[in-house]
Amino acid sequence: EKGGYEHFMLKEIHETPRVIEDTLSEYLDDEITIDASFAFGVSEIVFVACGTSYHACLIGKYFIEKLADISAKVEYASEFIYHQPPTGRTLVISITQSGETADTLEAMRIAKKRGAKVLTITNVLGSTATRIADFVLYTRAGPEISVAATKSFIAQLVVLYLITLKLSHIPRSEKVELLKELRLLPEVVKRILDSKEEIERISKLLAKYENLIYIGREVGGPVALEGALKMKEVSYIHAEGYPAGELKHGPFALLGEKTPVVASLVRDHTYEIMLNNIKEVKARDSIVVVVADEEDKEVEKYADFVIRVPKTNPIFSAVTHSVALQLLAYYTARERGCEIDKPRNLAKSVTVE
Ligand code: F6R
Repeated sequence: EKGGYEHFMLKEIHETPRVIEDTLSEYLDDEITIDASFAFGVSEIVFVACGTSYHACLIGKYFIEKLADISAKVEYASEFIYHQPPTGRTLVISITQSGETADTLEAMRIAKKRGAKVLTITNVLGSTATRIADFVLYTRAGPEISVAATKSFIAQLVVLYLITLKLSHIPRSEKVELLKELRLLPEVVKRILDSKEEIERISKLLAKYENLIYIGREVGGPVALEGALKMKEVSYIHAEGYPAGELKHGPFALLGEKTPVVASLVRDHTYEIMLNNIKEVKARDSIVVVVADEEDKEVEKYADFVIRVPKTNPIFSAVTHSVALQLLAYYTARERGCEIDKPRNLAKSVTVE
């Protein structure tokens, strides 16, 4: 059943290329086939979710604001109920792999009561979320057994790319270019999976620590949060993610030999300032592991270890970097002998509030 893999988590990470293909073929022909009627008359999007799906929302907010020019907010589903009521012009997008997370379902019900339209992005056909929502889009990740979400998270990002490009008013040539790259993602991810030796080597070192800090900027911020969540969940190492600019405002106090830092470095307008953050971390004696483009030579001057991922348009770095960080969490947990597929105290779907 594990198809020759030692754990479901590793098997499921390896299914990612197929999952991207399946999700794309669901909603992408010559054109994006998503029916965007959920967006008619919408002035604002509010994303709601929990855990890993919440991180997908944070990333989705960047895509939507950047490329589709619609203002977007992200709320923990468990906190949504305490906030201002959405109006009839609000689209609430809930993201839930299982479609059964109690807090997310409750947020959806409340959103509907307050007059908002609700779109859910889920992996499970006929799940409760699909019955509450006005509109449904499916990720095609297939069943996910490992408690830690991996392939389903990447599938959520793929759906978010498609929604964004569908709603976007960028020039057609740019859209065509992005869709072309999106179709190449399965191959790109395969290359990361095929070159995991360096990740395994780094994991052996990280496994010796009890504290890790993850950093990134812009879309790399939520990528860092998700990388840290995956790490703490399966390896039990205390890992915290921060937008890199926040380090100075407190977490700097934790830096030093005992706290390695994992940085997501993207070749876009955040590149120089991230490099600077990496230098600052290095100067405080933390070991630095950087996820960076294959072609980036500069980073080697400052990083102790570099995890190379294929170069893509920066918006797709959320996929490439996240897959690398999932593998990093997996191998670190394996090195520590953890019960990877069923971490202590956790359930695959949280059906109580
Ligand atoms: C982390 C993880 C959880 C879930 C969260 C939401 O790896 O799996 O954080 O992401 O419980 O679950 P869904 O997406 O089913 O609503």
